[in-house]
Amino acid sequence: MAGFESSSVERLVDAKGGTISREIFVNETIYRQEQEQIFSRAWLFVGHESQIARPGDFAVSSMGEESVILCRDRGGHIHVFLNSCRHRGMKVCRYDEGNTVEFLCPYHGWSYSTDGQLVGVPYLENSDGGELDTSRWGLIEVAQLENYKGMIFATWDRSAPSFLEYLGGYKLYFDLLVDAWDGREGGTEVIGGIHKWLIPCNWKFPAENFSGDRYHGVSHRSVDMVGLGPSGQGRRDMGERNQSRWLDVSFPDRGHSMIAFLRPHDAPISPSYENAPEVAEYFRRCEEERRRRLGAHWRLFGGPGTMFPNASPLARQPRTIALWNPRGPHQTECWRWYLVDADAPAPVKNFLRQYYTRYSGPSGLTEQDDMENWNYAHAASRGTIARQYPYNYEMGLGRATQSFEDHGLALPGVICDVTNANASESNQRGFYGRWSQFMEAQSWTELMPP
Ligand code: FES
Ligand SMILES: [Fe+2]
Repeated sequence: MAGFESSSVERLVDAKGGTISREIFVNETIYRQEQEQIFSRAWLFVGHESQIARPGDFAVSSMGEESVILCRDRGGHIHVFLNSCRHRGMKVCRYDEGNTVEFLCPYHGWSYSTDGQLVGVPYLENSDGGELDTSRWGLIEVAQLENYKGMIFATWDRSAPSFLEYLGGYKLYFDLLVDAWDGREGGTEVIGGIHKWLIPCNWKFPAENFSGDRYHGVSHRSVDMVGLGPSGQGRRDMGERNQSRWLDVSFPDRGHSMIAFLRPHDAPISPSYENAPEVAEYFRRCEEERRRRLGAHWRLFGGPGTMFPNASPLARQPRTIALWNPRGPHQTECWRWYLVDADAPAPVKNFLRQYYTRYSGPSGLTEQDDMENWNYAHAASRGTIARQYPYNYEMGLGRATQSFEDHGLALPGVICDVTNANASESNQRGFYGRWSQFMEAQSWTELMPP
């Protein structure tokens, strides 16, 4: 890693001991190294296939700092291209989304087909450039792409492991986001538009908060008092959380984590959404079906999490996934997608849509609370004096276990039971431990030994 020695990373991040230097949030050199070491190598979330349902559909997204085009070609295959013309770098596609037969560069008019080939070069035959081998000058495409239950992930690194290896044991928890509420595989779709907004903080503030910060309940006191949740009590309906074991789950060898809830094995179906009978009935039926379909695993419910490095599933209601795109050390461009069961009745989807926007995104009161914290924490950490003092991540040190079992149900991951404590920073330590490995490792062989 040029310009920044791996010994410096060791000095800045003590993930095991629970102290982390503020430098990693505000330092320009470290930020540049993250682009090379993390965002050029990791699997990144790009978008959902329902955004590009028909041939020729496209949607612009980001992989780290780079603008990319998510596109379904005329033959129906999905691609992710760097959104930059091969001639002089112009942004080939300047629309957020649409349907097209080709991408026409607005600068000199090179055009690319939806499968990325260079198909038009104005005046080529009249110029000395007649030798131009157009087959070598198509749009730059990602090295690997995965359509996982409708979620599109990609990496620039040919040597990266397969997406499923990258996911590892986290699959069980990530599936809580993308599987239908009744336990069927897949079965979710994106509704409404994607919320996109800027916040003045480093991308790691939201990533680590979603990784498992149960501890910040005080921040959300006001939304709890207002009664933002579907039943007007608290900020969410507590059904699946009642009497549950509260588990912080992390995969330090992957960097992924999630807050999870494990209901008692003999728990009755708990009522939710009681002031909306049609919605209550839908979720009651889903839970019955979930119990039949998933066996003992019906008991597991998700919450906020982070899939390393910058995608954060929220695997309960509101069911969403956020992407924290780095825009310099001091700014993050947030994107948030909202998911529902694709075959839920329209009134259920509509009910959820209204709840989602009340809760999340730039208009959501809960997310506004969070953004206040990240904005001000970042600003108050930039000064010459402030930078000299590390943050503390010692909560719940030494309390996690690697062999969790409850009534015969074994769960994967490093698990910290916080049922009676509600405060562990085990997930955050896992996130920054993996961050350090990425910043130090020269290759994927080091990052994921065979
Ligand atoms: S930059 Fe695209 S055609 Fe010149
Ligand atoms: Fe929060």
